[in-house]
Amino acid sequence: MCGIIGYIGNREAYPILVQGLHRLEYRGYDSSGVALVDPSGELRIYKSKGKVDELERFARSKELGGTIGIAHTRWATHGEPNDTNAHPHCSQSGRIALVHNGTIENYDVLKQALRQHGYDFRSETDTEVLVQLIEYVMDSSGCTLFDAVREATHRIVGAYAIAVIDRENPNQIIAARRSSPLVIGISGTEAYYLASDATPIVEFTDEVVYLNDGEIAVINRNEKLRIVGSDNSESKINITKLEMSISELEKGGYPHFMLKEIFEQPKTIADCISGRISPDGERLTISGVLENRERFLKARRIVIVACGTSWHAGLIGKHLFEEFCRIPVEVEYASEFRYRHPVIGEGDVLIAVSQSGETADTLAALELAKGQGAFIFGICNVIGSSIPRATHSGCYIHVGPEIGVASTKAFTGQVTVLAMVALAVGRLRGTIDDERFRSVTRDLRRIPMLIEEVLKLDGRVRELSKIFTYAHNFLYLGRGYNYPAALEGALKLKEISYIHAEGYPAAEMKHGPIALIDNEMPTVVIATSDSIYEKTVSNIQQVKARNGRVLAIVTEGDEVASKIADWTLEIPEVCECLSPLLTSIPLQLLAYHTAVSKGRDVDRPRNLAKSVTVE
Ligand code: F6R
Repeated sequence: MCGIIGYIGNREAYPILVQGLHRLEYRGYDSSGVALVDPSGELRIYKSKGKVDELERFARSKELGGTIGIAHTRWATHGEPNDTNAHPHCSQSGRIALVHNGTIENYDVLKQALRQHGYDFRSETDTEVLVQLIEYVMDSSGCTLFDAVREATHRIVGAYAIAVIDRENPNQIIAARRSSPLVIGISGTEAYYLASDATPIVEFTDEVVYLNDGEIAVINRNEKLRIVGSDNSESKINITKLEMSISELEKGGYPHFMLKEIFEQPKTIADCISGRISPDGERLTISGVLENRERFLKARRIVIVACGTSWHAGLIGKHLFEEFCRIPVEVEYASEFRYRHPVIGEGDVLIAVSQSGETADTLAALELAKGQGAFIFGICNVIGSSIPRATHSGCYIHVGPEIGVASTKAFTGQVTVLAMVALAVGRLRGTIDDERFRSVTRDLRRIPMLIEEVLKLDGRVRELSKIFTYAHNFLYLGRGYNYPAALEGALKLKEISYIHAEGYPAAEMKHGPIALIDNEMPTVVIATSDSIYEKTVSNIQQVKARNGRVLAIVTEGDEVASKIADWTLEIPEVCECLSPLLTSIPLQLLAYHTAVSKGRDVDRPRNLAKSVTVE
């Protein structure tokens, strides 16, 4: 949520910053801006409402020289998206520029106090308060920019990742974080790159340092990086090697990242399983489970916390853990969990599921549970992100960078890891017999090949989607393991096509939503051959009896549901507990093609951002 990029080195900064903004655009794209200190010592700030292309068009004819700069792509929190509210923000004297990701909760109080000291504000943002506060501290005490940033960050309440430059010292960037991510790329002492995540850095260097909460980085041109901790002591510079490749960050011939990511799933699931399940399906190695045997053996309850799509994966996780491990499982919206007084103790295992590893609510929920003695296990995608660093242990999903704002391959990766962790824990606790264990691990190994088969439905889904572009509402129904898949299908459709869609447990329909059924509202029903197939077929009958129109996802060879439904999509047979890994694929494609048919910006849907680092 909001993307920050900074550069200091021997090259021209502007092209590096703009390229970085394009890479970070998935974090927010309602406006963007850049600040440079040019060779004559002028601080130049260019900002524009809209996507980064707009900024480029606006800046084309401007003075763009300089080897130091900071830039930002915004997801608005305070103040509407417009040129004035866009970052970077500039201090009253025009000397200091700052970009910020996060929210400052006490900004109004600080603003009133600064007004009394003669400060005026041009924007409606919380960020402008911070840059004025830094200048005020510098001016009133005569301290350095570093000291002023330290002092100002002590006075603010909230979350921040910031980068600050001062035209009086064009050889330095100061960066700081609390609860919002920042990573520094190092190319010897010749160049430093600063960003919200590693995606804009990887083409320049594979050596990065992740800032920890409360740390401030002092990035001086041609000098060694310094990082100072919240207690004012020098932090050790821990360099991490990036494993990401540039090709993973490009569209590779697909019109959208989302379609590329949908089609990548055979490979991403294979990568996720690789080295974890032996070829014969006999052995399953999840080191995070093995190394914490006792915690899983003694667990009296599992609590899964997550948001959005990851929460849907968590719901499938509940079924998996309850079936294989016979441990009670609760699945919580992280945002609700953190503000209740949840009953958590030492016998609890809390599993935090997050693609980005940066979601503010999920991070806060796990910190809360950690403080109450729970064992914290993370299931994340982005290596080195905040959640994996805050957990006791965990398991990465290894599906590669997900750029499309609508999550696809991360969802199937999360479900795959939840299945493997549940199997590993079940075996440890002796609650799953060998035959069942082997049949599921063997089916897991077949999933990449089965997804290849399902992806052949693409053309048919594209055709079907054209029928549905007229619809204003959709209902998605599923039961058991596929109820969360129905929720996820509905979420995918609404977030990228802007068509209202609701997911429901199929049998609940008759308790209310059935009133909505008519021939205008398509109902998508997941009716694969499972233990409750007949019940789901009855639910389809109930929709048809009210003149509803049904698209059914069925198992190959189905002869009952397909005769009643208006349209069917057949998927291969697989064990019930893994079926969401297949049923979710046509639903992803349906959302994608419907959104394309409606002319939507699929990778950058309105109002959304990929990494939700604010509450
Ligand atoms: C929907 C989507 C969001 C995220 C949610 C949590 O397609 O991507 O609902 O799932 O914002 O994000 P993470 O998984 O990064 O914690």
